[in-house]
Amino acid sequence: MSSQASSRASSRGSLLSKSSVESARSGQSAGSTNSDNVRVIVRCRPLSEKEADQGEDEVVEVESGDTVRLELGALGASRTQKKFRFNAVMGPECSQTQFFETCGVKALLESALDGYAATVFAYGQTGSGKTYSMSGYEEQIAEDAYQGDAQSDGLIPRSMSYIFSRIRQLKSNVRLKASFCEIYNEQVYDLLNLTTASLPVRWKPGKGFFVQDLFVVECQTLSDIMEVVCEGHRNRRVGSHELNKDSSRSHSILTLNIETESSDPDDGHAVVKFGKIVFCDLAGSERLKDTKSDGITLTETGAINKSLFALSNVISALTTSATSGAASLSSASSSSPSSSGALTAHIPYRDSKLTKLLMDSLGGSSLTLMICCCSPAAAYADETLSTLQYAHRASKIRNRPTVHLDGKEQLISRLREEIKHLRVENAYLREQLATARPTLENSPSDSGHSTEHVIASFEREIERLKAENREIRTREFMADRNCQNAMIENERLTQKLEHLEEVFVHEPNPSGSRNEHEQLYTANLRLQQQVGHLKALLADSNHTSGADLEPLRSENAYLRDTIAQLRKREHSLLRELQQRPSRRPEARTIIEDAERKDSDRSFLFSGENSL
Ligand SMILES: Nc1ncnc2c1ncn2[C@@H]1O[C@H](COP(=O)(O)OP(=O)(O)O)[C@@H](O)[C@H]1O
Ligand SMILES: [Mg+2]
Repeated sequence: MSSQASSRASSRGSLLSKSSVESARSGQSAGSTNSDNVRVIVRCRPLSEKEADQGEDEVVEVESGDTVRLELGALGASRTQKKFRFNAVMGPECSQTQFFETCGVKALLESALDGYAATVFAYGQTGSGKTYSMSGYEEQIAEDAYQGDAQSDGLIPRSMSYIFSRIRQLKSNVRLKASFCEIYNEQVYDLLNLTTASLPVRWKPGKGFFVQDLFVVECQTLSDIMEVVCEGHRNRRVGSHELNKDSSRSHSILTLNIETESSDPDDGHAVVKFGKIVFCDLAGSERLKDTKSDGITLTETGAINKSLFALSNVISALTTSATSGAASLSSASSSSPSSSGALTAHIPYRDSKLTKLLMDSLGGSSLTLMICCCSPAAAYADETLSTLQYAHRASKIRNRPTVHLDGKEQLISRLREEIKHLRVENAYLREQLATARPTLENSPSDSGHSTEHVIASFEREIERLKAENREIRTREFMADRNCQNAMIENERLTQKLEHLEEVFVHEPNPSGSRNEHEQLYTANLRLQQQVGHLKALLADSNHTSGADLEPLRSENAYLRDTIAQLRKREHSLLRELQQRPSRRPEARTIIEDAERKDSDRSFLFSGENSL
């Protein structure tokens, strides 16, 4: 690794700015009809030499730039066709350069430089071209002192040089930090630091899920960053030999954090934005088919691929809720036209490490590009069909891209919005005054409506509006704080439940409390989702009027109620655990810990009368 400074996970900013979202939307590449949706590109590779030698029939045909046709069944009259439409479809003749230019990744890179989170993930069966599309020839990239290959390099090396060429043009200070990890059998491994064992995935307010202690490398030059990419690929191969890993079962995640500092064109003050781009090369989708076709449930899929299965469930839940408009909290979300289904239905992000880490990319605040790779060979037609169906489903997911600023920046932005608002209001009032003045001046007998009187009443009105604004903001702040507290408590409860789950797994309980524990866990997940909804609601600037606080109040009351129920159920579960003749020290520790911490929980309710 080069001599550049290395640092631990960087801090992330808060979410803000609707107007900036518009610029990211317009930045989407041509052919994107709805910029909030996950953009899906299909790429069909050429027949391999072996397939060609075997005389394999080609059954995938690119009909136009956006439609793909798949021939199913044996050759002859019984053969059927299926057609799918995507943002773009690329055939076997598409070169790596053409792919980079047309798949839409450049728009994502621009957005990342502009403070957005962006994700590119590759999906498809093993051997369909995911790694080739994302990186190029992995065995080449993993070589020492790899210098790049203009022909075979995939999206990652091309994106890195694109970013550096853009940085040279931009009049901003840019800091880049990269990390590279792999999820294998639900364990996260650092691809930049093979000495560490698997790393835990944690959650923090304002930051979401992240891999704890992941090595983060600060990159000042293109060769720094290419060294990270190559090192990750090298270690992936070494790791796979040492641990007997099967790369078709692992997901690799390369993250580039982009901190951009530029000066505001209006007044020259410095604005810092925290963008990022994530490249995720997923495990082979045939693993998913194993689970589905065998009717295996989530708890039994560990040996196959829990993360891939969970990803499929998340996509299903997101697309089902998007089409059905499921709205357990509909009153609050109705005024937000771009709300995704993610806000209203339970989305099982917490079911796997991959979905936790991609949470923001699916139904969240990220811009997402999904690359679906497939083989043209007739032998894989069924697999290709399921890949295309999956991709079609994913294209229905709607995200809400949001720019990431730091906390101070968020405040400044809010105040500026307010100033802008007051200026508009002022202009309007002046206009009203100008219209009223001649009339008033022409009616001397109307002493009760002198110009001064009208001005004074307008001024009073402005003061009243300002006071109302202040009060709304205070309430918003309180609601936000309550929400944060609830999320912290929720995470703590979840961690404790995970401990409990471990105890139960080791010591099955015949009394049926495992069932109760599962219910508790589900209730907790639901609560988490509701907290997320409430947070999104708070972030939505459409909800600044007094009337819009009404749903917030009832959500808050509901939330407190749910937490109280959850606590009650947890108590009874703990009591039951206590009564069991268990000698397991873990269980005892958890109980003692829960009892000790129980008194701390009152903080959650400290602000309950504020709304
Ligand atoms: N579009 C393509 N053009 C040429 N060769 C390709 C293409 N896509 C994949 N290949 C080749 O097919 C093989 C399998 O691709 P790979 O990217 O490793 O698959 P996956 O990562 O999906 O398992 C590799 O030898 C790769 O070079
Ligand atoms: Mg691969």
